[in-house]
Amino acid sequence: MPSIAVATNLKYASDCALLAKHLNLPICHDKNNHDNVDDCATFDLFLGYEDDDANGLQRLTLTDPSGNLGSSLYVDFIAGKVGHRHRFGGGRGQPLAKAIGLKGGANPTVIDATAGLGRDAFVIASLGAQVMLIERSPIIAALLEDGLGRASHDTELKTIVTERMNLVTANAIKWLTDLPTEKHPDVVYMDPMYPHRNKSALVKKEMRVLRELVGDDEDASQLLHAALGCAKRRVTVKRPRTAPILSGSILSNRKPNGAVESKNTRYDIYVP
Ligand SMILES: C[S@@+](CC[C@H](N)C(=O)[O-])C[C@H]1O[C@@H](n2cnc3c(N)ncnc32)[C@H](O)[C@@H]1O
Repeated sequence: MPSIAVATNLKYASDCALLAKHLNLPICHDKNNHDNVDDCATFDLFLGYEDDDANGLQRLTLTDPSGNLGSSLYVDFIAGKVGHRHRFGGGRGQPLAKAIGLKGGANPTVIDATAGLGRDAFVIASLGAQVMLIERSPIIAALLEDGLGRASHDTELKTIVTERMNLVTANAIKWLTDLPTEKHPDVVYMDPMYPHRNKSALVKKEMRVLRELVGDDEDASQLLHAALGCAKRRVTVKRPRTAPILSGSILSNRKPNGAVESKNTRYDIYVP
């Protein structure tokens, strides 16, 4: 686990103090905001607030002071890749929608058990489904919550993020196992970290930061097992297109009932 701190600055000092307390992280001082004080570089990563010039809001970012992992990382549903996919992504015909079962007018309840930076959950919610997002890394969850908060100020996205997306910080294996039957969702979606993902520079950068923070999700087969005990209609597992299916003794040779493929990705579908 990398060392990580909250970088305070004069403008957002009280928010930084709250965040550091919430995440139980030390505070460091960023040289851009504190004359002659710069102790953030002694940490592997730091979280901090900065102005989001596009909408006048503040934005939580994760920065690697060495620059090895690329520039700052933050969640943005309004602009960039996710916003573009929302506007032009192909609607219910896109592979992710087919893999979730968003056929015709169906709006299943979905639990995204590996929320990460929330991109897949946002696509699913923007197509009409109710999505519960579960993320076990409190730092990733804080970035995601911040992105959802900013999107709630956007007139186009407000309904999607406030009425169809709910974030829980928890380990989904336990959370799904403890979920009462009457709350079982139609679909559980999962996209565990895969050791050898290698795509575009942007994805690579995000994946490298994510991996640095959360490691490889080596308990993914346990998560699939918990998901199969909970989903009413299907469990969808995202994998790199040529990766083997999830396996492990807990799954006792369970094979997917089908798959949806796209250029780089395969969605394995399990019917419980
Ligand atoms: C590859 S990322 C998911 C990316 C996500 N699909 C997106 O669109 O941004 C995997 C994430 O799942 C989280 N994760 C893995 N296993 C989990 C579990 N058992 N419970 C909750 N979160 C989990 C990791 O912490 C990591 O943030």
